[in-house]
Amino acid sequence: MTDRYAVLGNPIGHSKSPLIHTEFARSTGQDLGYTAIETPLDGFADTVLGFRASGGRGLNVSLPFKLQAFEIATEPSERARLAGAANCLKFEGERILADNFDGVGLVNDLQRNLGVPLQGKRVLLLGAGGATRGALLPIAAEQPALLSVANRTPEKAHALRHDFAAHVPLQTGGYDTLLGQRFDVVINATSTGLSQEALPLPDGLFAPGALAYDMVYGKGLTPFLRQAKAAGVERVADGVGMLVEQAAEAFLWWRGVRPDPQPVVRQLTVPLV
Ligand code: ATR
Repeated sequence: MTDRYAVLGNPIGHSKSPLIHTEFARSTGQDLGYTAIETPLDGFADTVLGFRASGGRGLNVSLPFKLQAFEIATEPSERARLAGAANCLKFEGERILADNFDGVGLVNDLQRNLGVPLQGKRVLLLGAGGATRGALLPIAAEQPALLSVANRTPEKAHALRHDFAAHVPLQTGGYDTLLGQRFDVVINATSTGLSQEALPLPDGLFAPGALAYDMVYGKGLTPFLRQAKAAGVERVADGVGMLVEQAAEAFLWWRGVRPDPQPVVRQLTVPLV
């Protein structure tokens, strides 16, 4: 019998997950079906439990349900617990396992696809929401020389430093505290890629040869990437590789087989112009 998986979100119409997982299933010879389910804002738990009751094996979870996905789990992973959010569920009998593959997807994209090892680098994350929370532990595991978080609301960045204190030494502050500092990897984890707003980045933020990375995908050059290019940065990337890499981790977790993300990354890449 074909195993069933799905992605839940609201809205979910533009999700690339069905395309990605269908291609992974084809390339690895796995017999599975994958659909997108538009989930009522007040109906997340019902949709999850209904999907499981009808024989579903696992779910990806998109916005705005990542916190609820963590809460519904009977066994969240350590990184899901620290992020306070999950993007992937797996059903095993009565157990609901949860994990968060966004951060490891980002790190895999940076290191494997873009060829930027993080060890010894000065890494800056812009934003202090769920996207940053999910990225901190996997980035820290690569032993950067410095991991810094800047946020419009500095208190939220400081709260992250407090929450992760036992796991990750963080430098935190507002954008003004970046003045005079240089970074090798600057990652935009704010929602400004979607809203088209620019960030108050100081001059001299990017070290020579730096990479500017925006977690959003399929939007071409975002305001952040434009700012980076205007500052002389030659290496810019959006989050398409992160999206496909997190999906590959989910697929491996569900199926025990690692698909090759590269053909799907190429298929989904939108030129950065
Ligand atoms: P997500 O879960 O996707 O990270 P979020 O939790 O809503 O979303 O966080 C959005 C992030 O984008 C926050 O860090 C937010 O900054 P504040 O904490 O100060 O609100 C940041 N953000 C959104 N719009 C911004 C803007 N115009 N300038 C700077 N930061 C912005």
